[in-house]
Amino acid sequence: LSAVCEQWLTIGQRRVPLIAGPGALEQLPAALAGAGFEGRLFVVADSTAADLHAESLRSLSESGVVLRVSGAEADKTLDQVSRVWDWLVAQGAERRDAVVAFGGGVVCDLVGFAAASYLRGIGLVNAPTTLLAQVDASVGGKTGINHPRGKNLIGAFYQPLAVVADTRLLGSLPRRPFAAGLAEIAKIGMVLDANLFGTLERSASGLVPEAAEALTPLVARAIELKAAVVERDEREQGERMLLNYGHTVGHALEAAAGYGHLLHGEAVAVGMEAAACIASAMRLLDQASADRQRALLGALSLPTRYADVPIELVRSRLTQDKKRAGQRQRWILAERVGAAQIRDDVPADVVEDALRWVTADARLQ
Ligand SMILES: NC(=O)c1ccc[n+]([C@@H]2O[C@H](COP(=O)([O-])OP(=O)(O)OC[C@H]3O[C@@H](n4cnc5c(N)ncnc54)[C@H](O)[C@@H]3O)[C@@H](O)[C@H]2O)c1
Ligand SMILES: [Zn+2]
Repeated sequence: LSAVCEQWLTIGQRRVPLIAGPGALEQLPAALAGAGFEGRLFVVADSTAADLHAESLRSLSESGVVLRVSGAEADKTLDQVSRVWDWLVAQGAERRDAVVAFGGGVVCDLVGFAAASYLRGIGLVNAPTTLLAQVDASVGGKTGINHPRGKNLIGAFYQPLAVVADTRLLGSLPRRPFAAGLAEIAKIGMVLDANLFGTLERSASGLVPEAAEALTPLVARAIELKAAVVERDEREQGERMLLNYGHTVGHALEAAAGYGHLLHGEAVAVGMEAAACIASAMRLLDQASADRQRALLGALSLPTRYADVPIELVRSRLTQDKKRAGQRQRWILAERVGAAQIRDDVPADVVEDALRWVTADARLQ
């Protein structure tokens, strides 16, 4: 059940190995050799992850040359990308070589962007160390940094040579970020795969950092589902938008609460509740399925409401998003567990009711 699992993502002519499971990092050299890679590896590591997993890091870099960076969201900046560029120049990294991103989504995004731009594109290996990065940020080729005016405003689509999700690394995650990663798995289950959703329901109480290896089948399935969607719609013109389920209200809440207060995955969980509320009002989703989603998120220790933010702020963030997209607000709405659709015809009062519901103080109900 917890063996290392290897799958592939095919983008154009390229086949990207996706390796997941306990000890997956040990399989990386063989996977890279199989993909015809003969260069050197330059590891850029989240300093927290590097301290916690020095042994795994050593297996990645025999030479021990590692650039340590902060994995904080506030450091997902051009300055940090510049540091990576400077280091690669100093090391004499060539186009046949590859940079390894060892860290959470912040490090994957920022190192991916540095790799996409250094020498017009040097190899990239994603070695995600958080659950969220293993099931989401490391797969699909979105890289980038934040701009003072907004998250992820600068970036590029750039596919890695390989993704290696070693589930042993997850044991050191604190509970909140661990649960936040589970939110993205629940999201994928809700929009794409009723079986994955059911597996989560049955195993919820055992999904804790101390038993991280038990996650392997879930991580592998989430990666497989995301890879299949990315193969069909790399640039997010259609089907890939389904993966933004829970993110419309999620992003607005995250920004309104101030980054760092509500973890991304927590905001997505509340956003999923808002989406279910909208889908029920539109008579798309039956009450039993909405209840199942709420129960699962609760069992995973995730919030489904968040009252510590003024509703006006959330509303204005939603409007800003819509303006930026230059079109009607798009909503991903579940029609049942395991299936969803993209809608742009949600009435304003239905949205307003959902916002009121998820930002109301549950203690006062
Ligand atoms: N590119 C994409 O498709 C995509 C998708 C989803 C999210 N993202 C991005 O990912 C970022 C969030 O990623 P994240 O949730 O992984 O957060 P993160 O990268 O900020 O990591 C969270 C914290 O965990 C620490 N950490 C990392 N590995 C650890 C380990 N094994 N044990 C203990 N602590 C560890 C880090 O130092 C950091 O403090 C956001 O910037 C988001 O925009 C990108
Ligand atoms: Zn997300």
